[in-house]
Amino acid sequence: MLTDTFGRTHNNLRISVTDRCNLRCTYCMAEEVVFLDRADLLTFEEIAHFVRVAVPLGIDKLRLTGGEPLLRRDLPRLTAMLAEIPNLEDIGLTTNGLLLANQAQALFDAGLRRINVSLDTLDPGRFRAISRRDGLERVLDGIAAAKAAGFHPIKINAVVIRGTNEQDVVPLARFARENDLEMRFIEYMPIGAEAWERSKVYFAHEILEQIEQRIAPLVPADDYDPRAPAMDFQYVEGRGRVGIIASVSRPFCASCNRLRLTCDGKLRNCLFALDEVDLKPLLRERHDDAQLAETIRRNVRDKWEGHEINTARFVKPPRTMHAIGG
Ligand code: GTP
Ligand code: 5AD
Ligand code: SF4
Repeated sequence: MLTDTFGRTHNNLRISVTDRCNLRCTYCMAEEVVFLDRADLLTFEEIAHFVRVAVPLGIDKLRLTGGEPLLRRDLPRLTAMLAEIPNLEDIGLTTNGLLLANQAQALFDAGLRRINVSLDTLDPGRFRAISRRDGLERVLDGIAAAKAAGFHPIKINAVVIRGTNEQDVVPLARFARENDLEMRFIEYMPIGAEAWERSKVYFAHEILEQIEQRIAPLVPADDYDPRAPAMDFQYVEGRGRVGIIASVSRPFCASCNRLRLTCDGKLRNCLFALDEVDLKPLLRERHDDAQLAETIRRNVRDKWEGHEINTARFVKPPRTMHAIGG
């Protein structure tokens, strides 16, 4: 078991497969970015090798992230390689949806089942303002293709920023309800390139208030899990669910079960970690699985209590979100 000194067990691995992205969301990355050299990325074989060593240590849940993971050529091949590894409960993907229309079916056929699509607004102008690119229609087509391919649940992730897109909360929640999607709103975190201010965080209670006043009352979902990052709600009447990821106003570090592998082979025990361990020499040159397992164990053991977003001690990690993987 990958247990740290606070008693948290880690079973959830997030694998970033590329730092490249076809959007430039302001809350995530700078407009001009120097991306990693492709030669520095872990190969699919190296990623699968890492997972084969991590699973016996207790990892049973994987999520592929980016940058934008669908920019990594032939992602269905990696998915199929990972799906073959015994004792994995499930594999998920977090994508911006731009390339999903063409790839949804192949990913489903490769064994992927859970998909989260980032979408912060249904307004084309605000989509452009937030992501510095066009593409709303393509994302909507991607979501439709994912539904048609059989993905369930499909979660839609919206980061809500005060003064930018709080007016999108209600339209997004309605859109999700009408299309049998699970809407999740995310508090804005200091992990992008732009200057973060607490005053720009649109808080969980404000999101809930908008939905309850303008759509319908919510109650905690039947399967509400207080340890999960998302607080899940369901409408009192009729169908539909809403999740809120309140990383700022209700940090979930105390029950964190996550470990991250970056696309260039660094192990991070927290989204906000300031230190990371380079695994590439072990995966690429030395092939020492015993040492790899020990390195993973030690990295988990060294994990701190949690992020310090709400304190004056907070230090932003040197990588921005696009190079860590949401
Ligand atoms: P499932 O629970 O497996 O559906 O996935 P998820 O919610 O972990 O995945 P997703 O990639 O959709 O993450 C949603 C959002 O949660 C991200 O966009 C981040 O804003 C936030 N998030 C993910 N991991 C962490 C984490 O370790 N710490 C914090 N503070 N926020 C996180
Ligand atoms: N705060 C909260 N969530 C963020 N994401 C990217 N940057 C931030 C941020 N500053 C989320 C995206 C997406 C995932 C990849 O990371 O919305 O869901
Ligand atoms: Fe790209 Fe996702 Fe970051 Fe937006 S949030 S720039 S879609 S990696």
